[in-house]
Amino acid sequence: MNYIYLEEVDSTNKYAKERVHDLEDMTVVYTYNQTAGRGRLNRKWSYAGTDNIYASIVLKPSDRMLEVYSNLTQLLCLVLSQTFEEYGVKPKIKWPNDIQINKKKISGILAEAVNDGYKLLGLVLGFGVNLNTTKEFLDKIDQPATSLNIEIGYEIDKEEFLKKVLNRFCLMYNSFIKKGFLLIREEYKSRAAFLSEEITVKVFDKSIVGKAVDITENGALTLVDNDNKEHILLIGDIL
Ligand code: BTN
Repeated sequence: MNYIYLEEVDSTNKYAKERVHDLEDMTVVYTYNQTAGRGRLNRKWSYAGTDNIYASIVLKPSDRMLEVYSNLTQLLCLVLSQTFEEYGVKPKIKWPNDIQINKKKISGILAEAVNDGYKLLGLVLGFGVNLNTTKEFLDKIDQPATSLNIEIGYEIDKEEFLKKVLNRFCLMYNSFIKKGFLLIREEYKSRAAFLSEEITVKVFDKSIVGKAVDITENGALTLVDNDNKEHILLIGDIL
């Protein structure tokens, strides 16, 4: 892994995307001070002080997009969850790739692909983790949120946390690309929130209400609605 540390940046994803030509495969761009972080579905990733991790992994697995690449966010989500567990907390994965502790968000992932026509120039896998956020910042976030220091009662060594995540990610990356989501399905499912619960999933401008019954071999969410119709969702947002 190559590391690029930035003292301050608007968005590590934006920085990495703009320089994707020059950055090598397996480069991590990271900062503790991200001023205009971006989230999924055009949302923002709230500024939460200068004591958290904001990072983007640049990957160049091949020059065309394969289906398995879209599951990399789920691999990262599992790896982040396992890292949290090392600190003695019990995270839950909110499909597809949010992490919650006690129903409060602690980490989010934004994956972006940079293409030149049909050619894939690189993938940028960005993640933000609340490690040492104060209550004052958390209260300003537009959804219930928490931070690892608040959950366990002491300050977290950011660099140590980041290294743990990246080590875990590197260990699994090659076999994941070969074997796909199936490699982690059981580990992922055992941490998935909402399975066998009634939920609402927003897919573009449509909402589907149903019981979450499974996560498929491809990482999709299976939902059974009130008419017993099965929906297999590859994207969406659980409300
Ligand atoms: C989400 O939950 O909507 C995804 C949030 C992703 C935030 C991270 S922080 C590092 C990287 N740079 C960004 O601008 N966003 C991602």
